Amino acid sequence: MIKASLISIAAYAPKSILTNYDLEKMVETSDEWIVKRTGIKQRHIAQKDESTSDLGYEAAKVAIKRANLSPCQIDAIICATISPDYLCMPSTATQIARKLGLLNITAFDISAACTGFVYALEMAKALVESGIKKNVLIIGAEKLSAITNWKDRTTCVLFGDGAGAAVISQSKDENFIIDTHTASDGSKGDLLITPGCGSINPASKEMLENELQFIHMKGNEVFRVAVQTLTNDVLNILEKNQIQASNIDLFAPHQANLRIIKAVQQRLELNDDKCVVTVDRYGNTSSASIPMALNFAYENSKLKKGDLVLLDAFGGGFTWGSALLKFGGEIYNVRENF
Ligand code: COA
Repeated sequence: MIKASLISIAAYAPKSILTNYDLEKMVETSDEWIVKRTGIKQRHIAQKDESTSDLGYEAAKVAIKRANLSPCQIDAIICATISPDYLCMPSTATQIARKLGLLNITAFDISAACTGFVYALEMAKALVESGIKKNVLIIGAEKLSAITNWKDRTTCVLFGDGAGAAVISQSKDENFIIDTHTASDGSKGDLLITPGCGSINPASKEMLENELQFIHMKGNEVFRVAVQTLTNDVLNILEKNQIQASNIDLFAPHQANLRIIKAVQQRLELNDDKCVVTVDRYGNTSSASIPMALNFAYENSKLKKGDLVLLDAFGGGFTWGSALLKFGGEIYNVRENF
C-alpha cells in the first residue's frame, strides 16, 4: 500500500515587523498585556502590494527545492487560506501555480481557518495514497493584516502575515504520515467570524460602515473551547494509534496563544524542548502557523528525518484537527542561506 510522506517544509515571513510597542501607539493596549495574555511580542506584516499568493509562492518555491523536485514535478497545489487574493475567484492556489510557472495543474483553495494546514495535509495524504497524484504541494498562506480591524484592540494585537509550505509525496521508507484527524462544529461559527462580503452580508456601504469585513472574535469563549477541544483531540489521535506522548519528538501546535499551547503541552507532559513556540515572533498566522512553526524547528535543527511529529490546530468554524507523522525530509542544510 502506498504511504504518503511529508518530505519538505519551508516558510516565508514578510520583512516588516510590527512590535507590541508599535501597537501601543495605535490602540489602547500595552506590551505587558499582550505578552501576558497571548505570549505575542511581534508579528510580520506584508507590504500593501504583497499578496497572499506572493507570500505562499515564496514558501512554496523553497519547499519544492528542499524536496529535491522541480516545479514541473508537482501535480497538485492545495492552498489553505482565509485571506485569499480574491474573495471568490481565482483561487490563491491558481495564482501560486502561475507564479511557479505551472499553467496546467490541479490547484484549489480550502477554507478551514486556522486548521487549514491540517485539512490540506489530510487531502494531500488521500490524493497520494490513492495514487491519483504523486507530489502534492500544500500551502498555508495568510495576509491577515488585510482583514484585521486595526482599531479593535481585542483582535488587532493577535494576528500576523506569513506562509508555510510542504511537499507530500509517496513515501520511500518508514517515514510517512501515520494519521490525520479533522473535524468541525458549525453551530459555534459566530464566535470567530468575518461577517461581511459573503452572501449573507454582501459588499455594501452599510456593511463597510459596520466593519463587517474584518475578523470578529469572542476571544474568551473561543479560548475555553480551544483548550478543551485540542486536548481531547491530541489524546484521541495518540490513543487511536497506540502511541505514548513520551515518544513524540516534536509537538508543533497552532500558534494562537501561548497559554493554549502550554495547557495542551502540560496535558501531554512534554518538555519545552519538544514543543515549538513561534507565536512570540509571528503572532497568529492562521493556516500558516503550523508550517511556519515546523519550518522554524527545521531551520533550528530541532526537526530531522524520522522524528515523530504531532500537530494540532483549532480555528473558526469551529474547525479542529491533529496529525501524527514521521518527518520524511532531509536534514536542513545550513549552507542554504549563504
Ligand atoms: N489590550 C489591553 N486590554 C485588552 C486588550 C488589549 N489588546 N484586549 C482586550 N482587553 C481587555 C478587555 O477589554 C477586557 O477588559 P474588561 O475586563 O475591562 O472588560 C480584558 O482585557 C479581558 O478581556 P478578555 O477577552 O476576557 O481577555 P482574555 O484573557 O480572554 O484574552 C484573548 C483575550 C483574545 C487573548 C484570548 O481570549 C484568546 O487567545 N482567545 C483565543 C484565541 C484563539 O485561540 N483563537 C482560535 C484560533 S484563531
